[in-house]
Amino acid sequence: MKILVTGGCGYIGSATARWLHRRGVEVSVIDDLSEGHRRAWDGALAELDLLDRDACHRWLADQHFDGVIHFAARCYVGESVQQPVRYWRANVVPLIHLTEVLEGVPIVFSSSCATYGFPRTPTLAEDHPQQPVNPYGATKLAAERLLNDRDAAGLGRFAALRYFNAAGASADGRHGEHHDPETHLIPLAIRAALGQGSPLTVFGTDWDTPDGSCIRDYIHVDDLASAHYRALEHLLEGGESDVWNLGTGRGSSVIEVIETVGRLCGTPVPHEIGPRREGDPQTLVANADKARRDLGWEPAYRELAALVETAVRWHKQQPAGYA
Ligand code: UFG
Repeated sequence: MKILVTGGCGYIGSATARWLHRRGVEVSVIDDLSEGHRRAWDGALAELDLLDRDACHRWLADQHFDGVIHFAARCYVGESVQQPVRYWRANVVPLIHLTEVLEGVPIVFSSSCATYGFPRTPTLAEDHPQQPVNPYGATKLAAERLLNDRDAAGLGRFAALRYFNAAGASADGRHGEHHDPETHLIPLAIRAALGQGSPLTVFGTDWDTPDGSCIRDYIHVDDLASAHYRALEHLLEGGESDVWNLGTGRGSSVIEVIETVGRLCGTPVPHEIGPRREGDPQTLVANADKARRDLGWEPAYRELAALVETAVRWHKQQPAGYA
């Protein structure tokens, strides 16, 4: 089995590429290294910009793949609000270039709970209305629609995986989250506690939640990797196209994250309370029953502390990340 992983030097892409490789899958990675890190993936790499249609088509012309897992994208919600055209180009055009060539090849797509917009129910199931409230979510939804239309025309099946908040690091502490700039809560809290970064600002404690801070569903990056493997298996066994949420179904507040990080680092997280961040939904928690039912997927990291512990190990072992 030969699988193409685009964006395979990124945070979730590299975790998935390693997961497949450990299970005997032949993995080819494409990454332009604009966001990804060469050290995140030990195997063969085609350093290629998927926005370059000719280069992309030329490279694919010489290859045969049984499936594709498409991660390559930009992933900052705030940046997408400032630079919407850049996000539409980066998050939709590469998929067009791939699907122009890879007729009939099944695609596992990296989608997001950001496609739902503001939640209307306490937990989000796949049939929740999709009304994204930022360009990032809109581009992920557009890509899902492209895949849906391609499937309806008989041009190839897909699995769209809607992640909640990806977090954590490999259990051996060798691979983890390294964004530049880093905007995500868990790495910022750990860096603040370990004295590697500035104090954390909590974006609001006046929300209508038990402790006043926002609630998210943090899902371990290796659990996302295992779900991609399951979704790929589903497609390769002839399963139908579909979408699946990936989360634990448990919400944790920002304050709970800070307390957990402080406890595991052995020192409290220096922090201050700031105003709400524009565009933040109050609560985002997955109903991921469908992935359990259809794909037989179970997240191994159910407790926040177990997940955070892996991230703390990574930040202690690799204070400069992949730099
Ligand atoms: N937060 C803070 N202070 C910070 C950073 C974050 O209080 O310095 C809070 C946020 O307000 C939010 C929570 O911590 O309540 C998590 O924030 P992250 O920035 O870590 O993650 P988001 O929930 O904003 O975004 C994540 C992914 C996106 C995805 C989105 C779906 O990073 O790629 O979930 O809404 F699109």
